[in-house]
Amino acid sequence: MEALQNRRSQRSFSEKELPLQTLSNLLWAAYGVNRPGGKRTVPSAMGWNEFDIYLVQSDGWYLYHPTEHSLVKKGNTDLRTLACTQKYGQTAPLNLIYVANYSRMENAEPDEKQLYAAMDVGFISQNVYLFCASQRLATVVRATVDKENLREKMNLQPKQHILLGQTVGYPGE
Ligand SMILES: Cc1cc2nc3c(=O)[nH]c(=O)nc-3n(C[C@H](O)[C@H](O)[C@H](O)COP(=O)(O)O)c2cc1C
Repeated sequence: MEALQNRRSQRSFSEKELPLQTLSNLLWAAYGVNRPGGKRTVPSAMGWNEFDIYLVQSDGWYLYHPTEHSLVKKGNTDLRTLACTQKYGQTAPLNLIYVANYSRMENAEPDEKQLYAAMDVGFISQNVYLFCASQRLATVVRATVDKENLREKMNLQPKQHILLGQTVGYPGE
């Protein structure tokens, strides 16, 4: 009840890094495996689990692997100005980038892929909102991602689509 009461978007962030355990818990809340069989903390249309969550930080960018609950560094460049075209996200410690991989959405028509991916990302984002509320962290989900340039820098495949970004950090002043 408290997390729901405190859920809100905030647009002022401290530059302070998140502790690794907090990052770990955040990612598990967002998209972690919570049962034998590999199912997740979020529902997913047809069980496709079509999302990949990328993390954009000052020291580079990473991919979260839910089945191993691990992070793999993919590059050393600071891509925060592409991950967030609004100022507050460019100095925040973490921008999550939600990328739908349409190749996992078997037998769906193109408009269905778009619709289901748009629904599925909402659950991930809301889990992040509620986790942040429970930990007194600031967060805001955003459409303001420079998708074209970011996808190029992150070497995404044609069937990978950036849907939203979500900035996370300690609240600013
Ligand atoms: C799909 C979606 C896209 C959004 N895009 C942005 C955005 O680009 N920039 C931003 O500052 N807030 C963005 N927001 C946050 C909304 O502005 C915010 O949720 C709304 O004003 C309600 O405020 P609350 O989250 O504090 O209840 C977005 C929210 C959603 C659900």
